[in-house]
Amino acid sequence: MWKNAINDAITKTLRNIDRFGEKFPHVSRNANYELIDNNDWTNGFWTGMLWLCYEYSNDERFRNAADKSVASFDQRLQDHVVLDHHDIGFLYSLSSKAQWIVEKDDSARQLTLQAADVLMNRWREPGRYIQAWGKKGDSKEEGRIIIDCLLNLPLLYWASEQTGDLTYRDVAVTQAEKSRRYLVRGDDSSYHTFFFNSETGEPIGGATHQGYTNGSTWTRGQAWGVYGFALSYRYTKDPLFLDTSKRLARYFLEHLPEDHVAYWDFNAPVGADTYRDSSASAIVAAGLLELISHMDEQDTERDYFQEMCMKSMTSLVERYATIGEEGAEGLLKHGSYYVHGGLSPDDYMIWGDYFYLEALIRLEKGIGGYWYERE
Ligand code: GLY
Repeated sequence: MWKNAINDAITKTLRNIDRFGEKFPHVSRNANYELIDNNDWTNGFWTGMLWLCYEYSNDERFRNAADKSVASFDQRLQDHVVLDHHDIGFLYSLSSKAQWIVEKDDSARQLTLQAADVLMNRWREPGRYIQAWGKKGDSKEEGRIIIDCLLNLPLLYWASEQTGDLTYRDVAVTQAEKSRRYLVRGDDSSYHTFFFNSETGEPIGGATHQGYTNGSTWTRGQAWGVYGFALSYRYTKDPLFLDTSKRLARYFLEHLPEDHVAYWDFNAPVGADTYRDSSASAIVAAGLLELISHMDEQDTERDYFQEMCMKSMTSLVERYATIGEEGAEGLLKHGSYYVHGGLSPDDYMIWGDYFYLEALIRLEKGIGGYWYERE
C-alpha cells in the first residue's frame, strides 16, 4: 500500500514541477494550490518533497528542480526576504540542509550555517527564549514563544554538530526546555503559544493564535510537539524530552475520532461540518516513526505507537489522499491552516503533503526527513 501511495505522489510531484515553475505551493483554495514567491514560512516543504522524490526515485528531474529551488533560498537569505520569524528552521532544514545531506555540497552546508545564525539572532536574553514572530523591539511579539518552534531547533543542534560551537545547542536545549515547562500542560495537552514579559523574562500565560480558544489544544500545535520533542531527544538524549514526546503523543492518539485523523482543534465542538486537519495527523505519523526509533523493542508502548501510526497512515492513504485522482495538485485533502482566521479550511496544505510523503518513505525505505544527518 505504501509503495502505491509513494508512486502516486511521485507522479503528481513530477507533474507539479512544470505546473509550479519557479513558484512555491502554499495552501489551496478549491483544490488549486496558491502559488507564491519564496517569502513565506512554507516554502521549504515543496523543496523537501523534491529531495524526498529524488532520493526515492533517483530521477534527475527532481534533483535539478531541487537544486534550482535551493538557489532561491540562497537569494532569500542574502536579501533577507521575510525572515523576521523563527521558521528559518523549517525553511533551511528542508532546502539547503537537505541538499547537504543528499549531495554533500559544501556551499549548501555554508548556506545552512548562515541560516542558523539568522535564527540565533532571535534569542532574547532577558527571558532566554527564541522570539517567534516579528522584529526585535516589536512590543506585541517580543515576549511570544510558539510550540511550532520545536521543529526549528534541529537547525541549531545540527549547526553545533557541524561547527563544534555549543552556543547553538545551548539555545536549542533552553528553548526546548522552556517549551516543555510552559507550553505543555499537566494533562499532556498544550498551548499553542506562551507569553513572557520581554523586559524581565517573567512568565505571563498561555494563549492561542490558530486554535479554538486560548485554553484549547490546537491539533497541529500538539503535533509539532510530538515530533519536535522526539527530535530534541535525538540530539540531546535527555529522557525528559522523550517522555514529553510520549505524553503529547498519548494525548493526541487518545483524542482521535474513529477514522484516526484529527479534527483541527481537540476542543472544537464536533458536528457534521467540523473541519479536519489531516496535516496534523501526517506530522504525528512522521513524529511517531521518529519517537519509536528511540524506544526499546521490549517497551509495550512502542507497539501501541506503532499500531496507531499504521492506523492513521492507512486512513490517510485510503480516505484522505488523492491517489488515483488524475490531475489533482495536492496529495492530502482536508487540511486546515487557520480556521478562525478564515484561511483555507478543508483543503491541501503543502506541509501536510510533505509530512505524509516523509512518513510514507520512512515506512517503505527507512529514510527519515532532513531534520538530522543520516547515520
Ligand atoms: N507553523 C505554522 C502552522 O503550523 O500553521
